[in-house]
Amino acid sequence: MNFELSEQHLAVREAARDFARQECLPGVIERDSNMTHPTEILKKMGEMGFLGMMVDPKYGGGGMDSLSYAIAMEEFSKIDNSCSVAMSVNNSLVCWGLETFGTEEQKQKYLPKLATGEWIGAFCLSEPEAGSDATSQRTTAVDMGDHYVLNGTKNWITNGGTSQLHLVIAQTNPELGHRGINCLIVETSWDGVVVGAKEDKLGIRSSDTHTIMYNDVKVPKENRVGEDGFGFKFAMKTLSGGRIGIASQALGIAAGSYELAAAYAKEREAFGKPIIKHQGISFKLADMAMQVEAARMLVYRSAWLKDQGMDYDMASSMAKLAASEAAMKISVEAVQVHGGYGFVKEYHVERLMRDAKITQIYEGTSEVQRIVLGRFVEKGQLY
Ligand code: CAA
Ligand code: FAD
Repeated sequence: MNFELSEQHLAVREAARDFARQECLPGVIERDSNMTHPTEILKKMGEMGFLGMMVDPKYGGGGMDSLSYAIAMEEFSKIDNSCSVAMSVNNSLVCWGLETFGTEEQKQKYLPKLATGEWIGAFCLSEPEAGSDATSQRTTAVDMGDHYVLNGTKNWITNGGTSQLHLVIAQTNPELGHRGINCLIVETSWDGVVVGAKEDKLGIRSSDTHTIMYNDVKVPKENRVGEDGFGFKFAMKTLSGGRIGIASQALGIAAGSYELAAAYAKEREAFGKPIIKHQGISFKLADMAMQVEAARMLVYRSAWLKDQGMDYDMASSMAKLAASEAAMKISVEAVQVHGGYGFVKEYHVERLMRDAKITQIYEGTSEVQRIVLGRFVEKGQLY
């Protein structure tokens, strides 16, 4: 067992940390307040290779492993979670899904654009009546021989207003249940793709989350990903890796909150000494440090398992559950350590606290992760 990061992993961490501090930190408070999308920053992230980190270099990507991606996600998420959620969706849902299950033609046509940030991708599974209960798809893709006709509504779509490509999950054969579902590649410039208003959210406020309507969208047959009826399995398999991305985001929120709280506690004085010298505060920080490290072990291990070609479904659910619960707890405590200053925007911890909440909801709520883990327990597969 080797817990040491390689030279390459350390270099990725440094590059992501520098980029996040230099490019994402300036203006992050204002973008959050005004719900301003970080369009220019994402463009630069694409140019720097952060949007297609794991994609094979022959399709324009960085050819890196999942651990490098998790490390980079952690650094971005200490600072700007609207940037890191866009990065997560593009890397681990859209690029990974296409590269793993797409045809050679699909990969050659779309990956070079997506891996470099020329295009941004969105993953469209959730619907008004199908969130956790994801098999209850109402969106339909009617098979017309050489093409599908797509109709329906997806909601909560990250990158919804700024993406050029959607992976859309839709029902083709309702009588087959989840085995009749397909995944279609849809270009947003096509007729019938309608983007609804941007959601006004508690956290990740500058990320663009939209409802999307598909009205009689004609999708060529060659844009189906995988065999007929593979769409639900495609979504589940892709989400297993996506959950490593969101677990890394949660880890970044936890670690970032802890680092801000520890630094503040050394500076702020009360009763004649730095507040870290009061046991009530140092115990909080000790617990926070331990929880960050525990989450990091689970997140890195799930990425490592994926890199080894081993099964990681259980590990990614566990990492997402643990890291998102840690992010919520630690960010609340970080506000407490800051006292009144933690309650205002200038000190960053209130934003991280608001951002933490979404990590317990998207890519499978904490309850859904427990459903997944509970099934492994039932099968006797949990160690
Ligand atoms: N890999 C491969 N196949 C899988 C799988 C996996 N990890 N998990 C399930 N399946 C297969 C099952 O084997 C089954 O197929 P068969 O019947 O052919 O064996 C099929 O999928 C249905 O599985 P279940 O019977 O387990 O389905 P269920 O209705 O009980 O639901 C669930 C399971 C885990 C709750 C699932 O619906 C789920 O994950 N829901 C949450 C949805 C979600 O995470 N949405 C995220 C949207 S994207 C997003 O949120 C992005 C963002 O924020 C940034
Ligand atoms: P519901 O499924 O209605 O759940 C409501 C509550 O009931 C939750 O607490 C849930 O855990 C609980 N619950 C439901 N079923 C059970 C059960 N069987 N046992 C115990 N508890 C249960 N989706 C996409 O497809 N693409 C995206 O890009 C995307 N981005 C998002 C961005 C944001 C900001 C948000 C808010 C959501 C995003 N989502 C996206 C949707 C997200 O994945 C769903 O919100 C999530 O899966 C939960 O679905 P729901 O909101 O319908 O809640």
